[in-house]
Amino acid sequence: MNDRSEAATVVILLQRSLLVILLMAGALLAAPGGEPDTPTLRSVFADDFLIGVALDGRVVGGRNPEAAEIAARQFSSLTAENDMKWMALQPWPGRYRFETADAYVGFAVKHRMKVIGHTLVWHSQTPRWVFETTDGEEIEREELLRRMKEHIETVVGHFKGRVHGWDVVNEAISDGPGGLRDSRWRRIIGDDFIEQAFRFAREADPNAELYYNDYGLVDRRKRARTIDMLKRLIERGAPVDAVGMQGHYSLDRPPAAEVEQAIKDFAALGLKVMITELDVDVLPSRGRVGVADISRRETAHPSLDPYRDGLPEDVQQKLANRYAELFRVFLRHRGHISRVTFWGVDDGHTWLNHFPIRGRTNHPLLIDRNRHPKPAFFAVLKAGQETSPSR
Ligand code: XIL
Repeated sequence: MNDRSEAATVVILLQRSLLVILLMAGALLAAPGGEPDTPTLRSVFADDFLIGVALDGRVVGGRNPEAAEIAARQFSSLTAENDMKWMALQPWPGRYRFETADAYVGFAVKHRMKVIGHTLVWHSQTPRWVFETTDGEEIEREELLRRMKEHIETVVGHFKGRVHGWDVVNEAISDGPGGLRDSRWRRIIGDDFIEQAFRFAREADPNAELYYNDYGLVDRRKRARTIDMLKRLIERGAPVDAVGMQGHYSLDRPPAAEVEQAIKDFAALGLKVMITELDVDVLPSRGRVGVADISRRETAHPSLDPYRDGLPEDVQQKLANRYAELFRVFLRHRGHISRVTFWGVDDGHTWLNHFPIRGRTNHPLLIDRNRHPKPAFFAVLKAGQETSPSR
């Protein structure tokens, strides 16, 4: 090597070292945990319950880094908002697609979060072929049980050891009179489709927690129907570990005292309780508040979309107070509550911008559209810190 090339090598080495030092300094400054003393939801509630969030494919796939940063920093569990539903995992008979769903597990591992599997057996977002022959005829009990078992075995088996718990059956209770919802699952298999699903899931991953999940469980009549169903499951030895109350609430309904009573009633069955899809709808509605059936639609009207330009200060405060009262209830029962999950990271991406009316501007979460924490965020943190002032 001559002198000139030796000098050039030294310069390159120096440049590289400088680059490494700069990169390390940059990483330290930009690290999401860069300010370790700032309280976060996951640190404040660490000894109480998991605090979770529903994410979409853009967040876990790196296409929404701002939301990803908030999710990783604030939450200790995640749920796929859509990507583990039947339609996403097995859109065609026997053709499973796991790439998108696997990205949630990757994100969770990286950020030390637990993964909640949502959901195995549901009447919505399930392809029609599941219930039909190739000619479109409705199939019989034995065949549908076989398909259900195969799906559960394959899906739960695929995620074995990586999914903390599954919403095994979602929304099986009727909103009207009667016990179970009149779904194709129930019509074709019979009332025992729920028990069967739990047994298949336990077999596929004996270590995963198994949940029954539904909306409207604070409503007294629906709650009573759900308790009847759960009691029967428990009596028959079906492996159900917890009940998920979805928690799609509004600013004043249901009353916090009723939410509390529901938690007590479910805990009295010996089950863990979880709030699984929490959000607080701030928009007016002409329909049945709390009925979160995704097929429900209301007619649009400008008077039903009043906060397009932002949430007025008084409503912002009302939302903060509402979240604070709900969290005080959850904290009082933290011995029975194992998780509280928000249904979305920020107001820019929430299903409530499109349900039950498409294209409205809702403000149901703790983080606003510009990804700034709202007064509700600080109210929730404060509720947690009051319970355990050292945090
Ligand atoms: C919703 C998602 O948030 C939407 O993106 C999708 O279009 C429809 O489903 N109860 C549930 C959730 O159990 O799976 C639903 O999620 C909301 C109501």
